[in-house]
Amino acid sequence: MNILSPSILAADFKKLGQQITDVDKAGAQYIHIDVMDGTFVPSISFGMPVIKSIRSVTDKVFDVHLMIVDPLRYIEEFAEVGADVITFHQEAAPDPQAVIDKIHSLGKKAGISIKPGTDTEILLPYLETVDMILVMTVEPGFGGQKLLPESFERIKRVRKMINESGRNIDLQVDGGIYKENLPEILEAGANIIVAGSAVFKGDAFANAGELLTILGIDK
Ligand code: DX5
Ligand code: ZN
Repeated sequence: MNILSPSILAADFKKLGQQITDVDKAGAQYIHIDVMDGTFVPSISFGMPVIKSIRSVTDKVFDVHLMIVDPLRYIEEFAEVGADVITFHQEAAPDPQAVIDKIHSLGKKAGISIKPGTDTEILLPYLETVDMILVMTVEPGFGGQKLLPESFERIKRVRKMINESGRNIDLQVDGGIYKENLPEILEAGANIIVAGSAVFKGDAFANAGELLTILGIDK
């Protein structure tokens, strides 16, 4: 199934609760929450207190994208504050399998992500256990960037790997996604779409609705 996961990194933080309600009402199934530590990526975003506070605003799936070094240290805390899907970067984890196992031990779904420069083959050992793969379509760290054109081939390659695994693994994409390039992204094989600027710049309710229509979701 296709899923829209609006990234609150692009939201207006003065009215974060309202913006989440807007995309919830529009029919978005996930809320994408970008956690950045200033080390794995240059930016610092927000952490557990913010997630805990917005947990009361919506029942939608909290899709937490960890852009932090050594994510194993914090999995338990993110689970506690209300994460449902926890995605970490392969490049940031000395032992990715341990992170996946930790997430599962807490009853949460595990996602593994790769940056644009990371070989897709690196994912092979995790296909047996992971619930979601996040193929970054920009260099992680900032919203509002342009999608890298080589992403389409990478998405296709990962979709093929997933199909060959015989497991039902979600393929998420994140970065520079707009209504104009969304059809081609779906065509390549992605099914969970993160969108920050495309949703929150302007009318979030209307923008999310438009993207959901392209995703073929009946609201
Ligand atoms: C970037 C983040 C993204 C970001 C996407 O490192 O992981 O989730 O918010 O923003 P847009 O959709 O504006 O490229
Ligand atoms: Zn993200």
